[in-house]
Amino acid sequence: MTAKLLDGRALAQSLQAQFQEHIAHAVAGGQRAPGLAVIQVGDDPASSVYVANKRNTCQKIGVLSFAHELPAHTTQAELNALIDACNADPRIDGILVQLPLPPQLSANEVIARIAPHKDVDGFHPENMGRLAIRQPGLRPCTPYGVMKLIETTGVDLYGMEALVVGASNIVGRPMALELLLAGATVTVVHRFSKDLAAHVARADLVVAAAGKPGLIQGEWIKPGAMVLDVGIHRRADGSLCGDVVFAPAAERAGWISPVPGGVGPMTIAMLMHNTVQAWQQHLNRPSLTA
Ligand code: GUN
Repeated sequence: MTAKLLDGRALAQSLQAQFQEHIAHAVAGGQRAPGLAVIQVGDDPASSVYVANKRNTCQKIGVLSFAHELPAHTTQAELNALIDACNADPRIDGILVQLPLPPQLSANEVIARIAPHKDVDGFHPENMGRLAIRQPGLRPCTPYGVMKLIETTGVDLYGMEALVVGASNIVGRPMALELLLAGATVTVVHRFSKDLAAHVARADLVVAAAGKPGLIQGEWIKPGAMVLDVGIHRRADGSLCGDVVFAPAAERAGWISPVPGGVGPMTIAMLMHNTVQAWQQHLNRPSLTA
């Protein structure tokens, strides 16, 4: 293998240690601890794993987590009422509603109802809009985590050819905005795009967020390119893989993020970053939450 590994597990741990120290110092000085409301509707098994991870990380670093597990048949009015209560609760700095939601519920309505200053997922139209106009507020966690991983390489993104594979609201779109903000020349490909291989072959940086195991062939990667794989899929044998076929890609790339241990841990680390950021803002301006 020629590529250097982008170790998201190590970076996430080091960031979380910094947040933990920051929180402990503030609490020792008499401040309240940060609070994060984690809301899950129904019992999708993958969501349950993510939510448990988020709560464990909160506990490790000293964030109070307020868990809400609602039944799958929860109505929009009930969920809205819970969000209103969290918006008004001065102990809560961040509100996270785990997606996807059961079909009777509108994710768009839920996201827009969260107070933008408590939107630690960064999905609210105000936060997405801020990122688009180069005035970032709370930033979507996965793209932000990818940027932090890229930063560790010391590579300057100015003028680089960056390719984002996937155009979802959660990853692809905000990823493109982050890369644009960092000065890259950005292309986004999606399910209607033609000739994925040709786009990949041109890219100095590939962020794979299509949600399709092995979609990107290692042989397509430009020699020396940087590859960030956001995909996470369970194979029949129980092992995990990403959107990129790892072994051949690692033979050509300059840097590559593994699955697991690459982008995944960074998403949670940046959720903690955003929770600390929201908490700081609330401590400075208590009128936002009171
Ligand atoms: N489902 C998949 N990714 C995410 C995420 O980053 N945040 C939330 N709330 N739900 C998700």
